[in-house]
Amino acid sequence: MSADSFGEHVSIVVFGASGDLAKKKTFPALFGLYRENQLPHTVNIIGYARSGLTTEELRERVKEHLKLHDEKAKSKVDGFLLLISYISGPYDKPEGFEKLENAIQEYDTKNKVTKSERLFYLALPPSVFTTVASHIKQFVYPEGGRVRVIVEKPFGHDLESSRQLQKDLSPLFTEEELYRIDHYLGKEMVKNLLVLRFGNELWSGVWNNRHISSVQISFKEAFGTEGRGGYFDLIGIIRDVMQNHLLQVLTLLTMERPVSFDPEAVRDEKVKVLKAFDSFNPNDILLGQYGKSEDGSKPSYLDDDTVNKESRCSTYAALAVNIHNERWDGVPFVLRAGKALDESKVEIRIQFKQVAKGIFQEIHRNELVIRIQPNEAVYTKINSKIPGISTQTSLTDLDLTYSTRYSDDFWIPEAYEALIRDCYLGNHANFVRDDELDVSWKLFTPLLEYIESDKAPKPEIYPYGSKGPKNLRKFLTDHGYVFSEAGSYQWPLTRPNVKGKI
Ligand code: BG6
Repeated sequence: MSADSFGEHVSIVVFGASGDLAKKKTFPALFGLYRENQLPHTVNIIGYARSGLTTEELRERVKEHLKLHDEKAKSKVDGFLLLISYISGPYDKPEGFEKLENAIQEYDTKNKVTKSERLFYLALPPSVFTTVASHIKQFVYPEGGRVRVIVEKPFGHDLESSRQLQKDLSPLFTEEELYRIDHYLGKEMVKNLLVLRFGNELWSGVWNNRHISSVQISFKEAFGTEGRGGYFDLIGIIRDVMQNHLLQVLTLLTMERPVSFDPEAVRDEKVKVLKAFDSFNPNDILLGQYGKSEDGSKPSYLDDDTVNKESRCSTYAALAVNIHNERWDGVPFVLRAGKALDESKVEIRIQFKQVAKGIFQEIHRNELVIRIQPNEAVYTKINSKIPGISTQTSLTDLDLTYSTRYSDDFWIPEAYEALIRDCYLGNHANFVRDDELDVSWKLFTPLLEYIESDKAPKPEIYPYGSKGPKNLRKFLTDHGYVFSEAGSYQWPLTRPNVKGKI
């Protein structure tokens, strides 16, 4: 454990304990860490919310969302649930917070803790966020102890509200105490990006505009906004996944080599490259909203009762980004994200320039594909001679698919597990810093203002379950992506040409 790590006796308070995020992500992540012995079995977990639940009822609710498929999980679940207790209280009055302080003090006294250590997880809607933060500071902030506060997005709605939030939080907690979660930074393949880039001369040598012709970061989900349309309608796909998750991935792909893996060294480089981004061109964006599926079995976005019937909210967006520095000038980066598509997949696709055709009849562009999910993989499309007497080339791959290379014995933490562990250890590298957030809102706010004004065109309707708006292919082609004449690449077992005529 690092010097900054919390110790054996920590109180972890989950605010919003009866809500969806806590049930589906926070408690399961705490359980995952406990199961893997990454969380001391002596911690004190307290759920806090307004609902009038008992501790027993909270434990039941938590248990429903835990994955208990194997013996290890089954054997650990009871021990984990016993660590959890519940306090019901308002978010805007002292009562509940005083009870909370007493409960933590009791635990500290029992365990002879002299410097109280507290991790507050705010799984809360923005409306109560600042109120809870100020009550924490007033009633449960330990003198002489240590505090870490995990904050969930949204971190504001635009530049102004993000700055306001920052202004409200900064007198309460230092930047050192704040851990702003972007869960994409906890994903295994996203954590691998800096190693792939800077640990391989093969890639670091060609990672620039002399060799790379275009880059895409694409996020696809095979389901719509079912169940959260009302919330989604206020934010849209750009705020939901692009301004945060995809921008984080893009930043890691394009930043310069940090002097070390020290959190501030990494975050300094991220901010630097963000500042080199060209402002986004509102006329250079593709927007879509999903309609009914072609067979009529899946609803359109507007069929959701919680969505305004006239809504122009985008459930799909593709945006071109240019970076004006020596390394990237001239390379188009396309971020694209959509809901209710034909598949769920998040990947990075880096296309390289064409080699001189010269001696070849047919030669394809190299592509490096980094699949973040599902089934992590890194593969490179390369040209190779067809084996045997043939002199022709074919497109094939160098393939690192995790499921075939690494055995199931590896525990690959879920994103939330990885990030809560980092916070416990006091490692900020995979959390969003205040200045980084500010630059990202500076970039996105003018674009969002335009899209939400009357001047913007209506989003193109695409069928639920399709590949997205019809104009996508043209948009990608216009931004430098060259579709292979060989069509989509299927990983075939290549067989000799049976006619033997080559
Ligand atoms: C969340 C968005 O931040 O990320 C959701 O609010 C989205 O709309 C989710 O579905 C995607 O996360 P993951 O880990 O499932 O790819």
